[in-house]
Amino acid sequence: MNGAVAPPPPPRPVEVPDLAAYRLLHARSLADPEGFWRERIARFRWNRPPDRVLEGDGPAARWFPGGRLNVSENALDRWVDDGHGNAAALLWESEAVDAWRRPEEVRRFTFRELRDAVALLAGALRALGVEAGDRVTICLPIVPELPIAMLACARLGAVHNVVFAGFPAQALLDRIEDSQSRVVITADGGFRNGKPFPLKSVVDTAARRTPLVQRVLVLRRTGEPVAWTPGRDHWWHEAIDAATPAAPVPVASDATHFLMYTSGSTGKPKGIAHGTAGYMVQAALTALHAFDLRPGDVGWCTADPAWITGHTYTVYGPLLSGAATVICEGPLGFPDWDRAWDVVERHRPSVLHSTPTLIRAWIRQGDAGLRVRDLSSLRLLASVGEPINPTVWRWFREVVGGGRLPVVDTWWQTEAGAAMIFPFPYATPARPGSATLPFFGVEAGIADAEGRLLEGEAAGQLVIRRPWPGMLQGIWGDPRRCHDTYWSSVPGAFVTGDAARRDGDGCIWLLGRTDDVIKVNGHRIGTAEIEGAAVAHPAVSESAVVGLPDERSGEAILVFAVLHPGQEASAEVERGIVRSVEEKVGRLARPREVRFLPALPKNRSGKILRRLLREWAITGRVSGDVTTLDDSSALPA
Ligand code: WT7
Repeated sequence: MNGAVAPPPPPRPVEVPDLAAYRLLHARSLADPEGFWRERIARFRWNRPPDRVLEGDGPAARWFPGGRLNVSENALDRWVDDGHGNAAALLWESEAVDAWRRPEEVRRFTFRELRDAVALLAGALRALGVEAGDRVTICLPIVPELPIAMLACARLGAVHNVVFAGFPAQALLDRIEDSQSRVVITADGGFRNGKPFPLKSVVDTAARRTPLVQRVLVLRRTGEPVAWTPGRDHWWHEAIDAATPAAPVPVASDATHFLMYTSGSTGKPKGIAHGTAGYMVQAALTALHAFDLRPGDVGWCTADPAWITGHTYTVYGPLLSGAATVICEGPLGFPDWDRAWDVVERHRPSVLHSTPTLIRAWIRQGDAGLRVRDLSSLRLLASVGEPINPTVWRWFREVVGGGRLPVVDTWWQTEAGAAMIFPFPYATPARPGSATLPFFGVEAGIADAEGRLLEGEAAGQLVIRRPWPGMLQGIWGDPRRCHDTYWSSVPGAFVTGDAARRDGDGCIWLLGRTDDVIKVNGHRIGTAEIEGAAVAHPAVSESAVVGLPDERSGEAILVFAVLHPGQEASAEVERGIVRSVEEKVGRLARPREVRFLPALPKNRSGKILRRLLREWAITGRVSGDVTTLDDSSALPA
């Protein structure tokens, strides 16, 4: 393939040795899914094997129907029972470091220790009334108890709903209410960027606004004082003292395993529901094929377990593969961005799996720190979450990877459950800037704006032309919305919301979103949510939000605001709008800039033309067709 970076020789035998083998297996996974997946699920522990691999089609597809299993048993007990109980499963370090940059706390769990901790917490949750099918909202800082809480829910067949610990109370409340969680697991607080932050008080504020929350389990992390509601609040350490370990509860293949809220084009985040068996199979098999994780290996994915990447590649993927996972408290910028190299030197992972945002921070930090560290454990580098530009890709490969390690750019999304498009690290060529080829069972397609599928070299909407194992089960509480959002505009296909180009070799190049979703520091943010928060400011009558290219964060948020008659634009109103966004959507969505306009450009049916606003903000001009504009005076020339 032209312009491709040839795969380096594998450090040990791999199941897929070259491009020809990949093509053969990929073709077989599409031609004979029943046979293909049947062979690959024998490695898991089933209480009852599935009757079939796949039933139904489109949003109604069910993977591995008839099967019964437990994910925590597959991630933990299976390895303990196989004689792997003393191998490392979880390696965690605190953000706080001493004068020699050594973490103040390091906690290591073997598979047996992790299994025992999970079983005990599951027993404690059961004593608090948690049963199979119940939703449990988890809002914890990045401590070992976060994956332990997730796995304990899975052990009971309960549905975990992990919420990022940096969200404001309103965002947490929305997620508690939408998921109908009666139990919340949290901590007094956590540490980030060298400072403690409160968490229990955020949960208290959310819980005050709903009658739903019956039990709050509280981990002591910072030791700061917290308010206490007797009967409702329970300390984690007391609850596990009184608990008896719980055995794994087998559930149906299509039982809901977890919810993950994410943004779309409406003002309300969607609860993406993932099932049990299909998610598990794709998480584990992509951990193998994309990241080459096998029993005894150590993987490091820098994602907070609270996001989908963290669910799949910080927690489930490695453990389901018998590999250890490294977890670091905090966003890795403390005491500086060289922290990551300390972590590699200390825990010796074979995989460093990160994001373009973090790689850009490492580039800014400079390479002096990494050059004096021992990075020799690394066999593979990976990136996810945003387009990685070829310069950043090359820096990652040359400077961190010494020019010899594969860079695996993985494309997927919350709805996908696990990686969908990526180069097989030791088999298929990589291309700086392209996620390249679809995983087994994934039939990627390109459709035009009218929803017609295009053949050969083409650019358009990226669609997935059939169900895949890790696919979302639906949008929680709104089955219709899943069909309408993803499966209705291109017949028989799932619409990803991304634009992409397929080149002559079948490689996929991601070109950004086609909808009103922007990516700030890799976080997915819906423009409608920010607009809702902006118009909540009493001076604002209308708002439109666009993403602008930004060196640091990938995209930055620009808020356009139209004020009510009689209101004056001022720094004060600007600050008020920013504050409203932070309070309602979160600091992740903090606008870089607010601009005031006399009116918003709209077409004649009243739709805001964000494309024009974006172009105008970037270039100062508007090109192309503006004849649909209702009021051309909206944009100053
Ligand atoms: C959106 C999904 C993938 C899990 C973490 C983010 C963008 C993701 C890539 C990539 C270019 C990418 C897409 C996608 N994206 N990976 N390798 N190259 N863009 O999950 O928060 O649901 O975001 O992130 O636009 O649709 P998410």
